[in-house]
Amino acid sequence: MKKLIASLVLAVLPAISLASGAGVHLDHMKPDLHDKASLQKGAALFTNYCMGCHSLKYARYERIANDLGISNELYEQNLMFGDAKIGELINIAMPASNAKTWFGNPPPDLTLEGRLRGADWLYTYLRAFYVDPSRPYGVNNAVFKDVGMPHVLAGLQGVCAHKPETGAEKKVDSLSGRIVSEGGCEEYLKEGSLSKKEYDETVYDLVNFLVYMGEPSRLQSERLGVYVLLFLAFLFVFVYFLNREYWKDVH
Ligand code: HEC
Repeated sequence: MKKLIASLVLAVLPAISLASGAGVHLDHMKPDLHDKASLQKGAALFTNYCMGCHSLKYARYERIANDLGISNELYEQNLMFGDAKIGELINIAMPASNAKTWFGNPPPDLTLEGRLRGADWLYTYLRAFYVDPSRPYGVNNAVFKDVGMPHVLAGLQGVCAHKPETGAEKKVDSLSGRIVSEGGCEEYLKEGSLSKKEYDETVYDLVNFLVYMGEPSRLQSERLGVYVLLFLAFLFVFVYFLNREYWKDVH
């Protein structure tokens, strides 16, 4: 009995520690793997803003192109650099040892990041950079304290002047119905090219893509799951009558 209780506790422990996220409140987003347009935009954003430092070394260009409905030619022309081939794994040229010197930590591979951190964490992290002159790249992050990554999306978001409140409830003035505060960045030191809402949508697409990346066969599995259940339902009819047949003379 003791053993059983201990193993039950151990089984739920990772879930508890993950859910607590070291006390940081997270903003919520609901990934939508059926939204091809969003995934395509996410793939383009990842290629342009992240692939300089982060690889997707367990994924192939071709698989992404096929899954997201992008033709191989279009993918090769727009989303691949150098002499990479469409059938190759997505590696990057930056040597990990140099990267460690430049950033303190080498940028990790992000193929499985969607599964490791989850959509909410990523969605909040990418919107939680703020100015901090004491850091080497002048920014810190409200979700990942003292992160080595620069704010690479600053051109789009701008640079937040204060540590943003994450996971905040929207506060609405009950008389006028106007939003008084909604968390996130309230004041910018430098404006970016996107509005707050547009930036949220951009990060949504990017995270949607990372979630897809962590489990590319998810949609196929779901579709197959329906067929399996239909088959079992169909089989049940026969098994039921067979059972009746076997037992009909036994009383
Ligand atoms: C200039 C290089 C650089 C670019 C470009 C870059 N990153 Fe990073 N990133 C890093 C470094 C370095 C770290 C490791 C930071 C650390 O551990 O302190 C990191 C860490 C991360 C992490 C946290 C990993 C973890 O779980 O510990 C995520 C998520 C991430 N990056 C996402 C992105 C995304 C998405 C983009 C594109 C919008 C991007 N990064 C672009 C350098 C970069």
